Amino acid sequence: LVIHGPNLNLLGKREVSVYGKTTIKDIDNDLKKIAKAKKIGLEIMQSDHEGEIVERIGRAKGKIDAIVINPAAYTHTSVAIRDAISAVDIPTVEVHLSNIYAREDFRRTSLIAPVAKGQISGFGRMSYILGLEAALGAVKR
Ligand code: DQA
Repeated sequence: LVIHGPNLNLLGKREVSVYGKTTIKDIDNDLKKIAKAKKIGLEIMQSDHEGEIVERIGRAKGKIDAIVINPAAYTHTSVAIRDAISAVDIPTVEVHLSNIYAREDFRRTSLIAPVAKGQISGFGRMSYILGLEAALGAVKR
């Protein structure tokens, strides 16, 4: 399960100097290609709504093997998403396009990182590819 958080639907047009020209469609196509080659099921969602993301994670228990999430701005604020990840106990990889440690101070704190298997930050669209690989490696077999 790949989750794109708020405003990531605007990629390609949004703060191009930070996030580049890559669109969410480009990212999703990268991931779909990998999933096809590896014959793995892939579900992708984008939501601007914290509650919708919390609900989707909650419904994943027992059904989803691994989660890749870019929580976007909710990275820095959402106890609810953190608690959802902690509750379902599914290996989760946190990804960011930009290096969140090289920007404003408020971005340096991730509420998600302590409940994630790990975090990949700063590699643009590659962050998601690396995140998917890491998530597959973390699947409990
Ligand atoms: C982001 C970084 C966040 O701080 C920001 O709010 C985003 C995108 C990234 O992918 O670099 O929306 O998660």
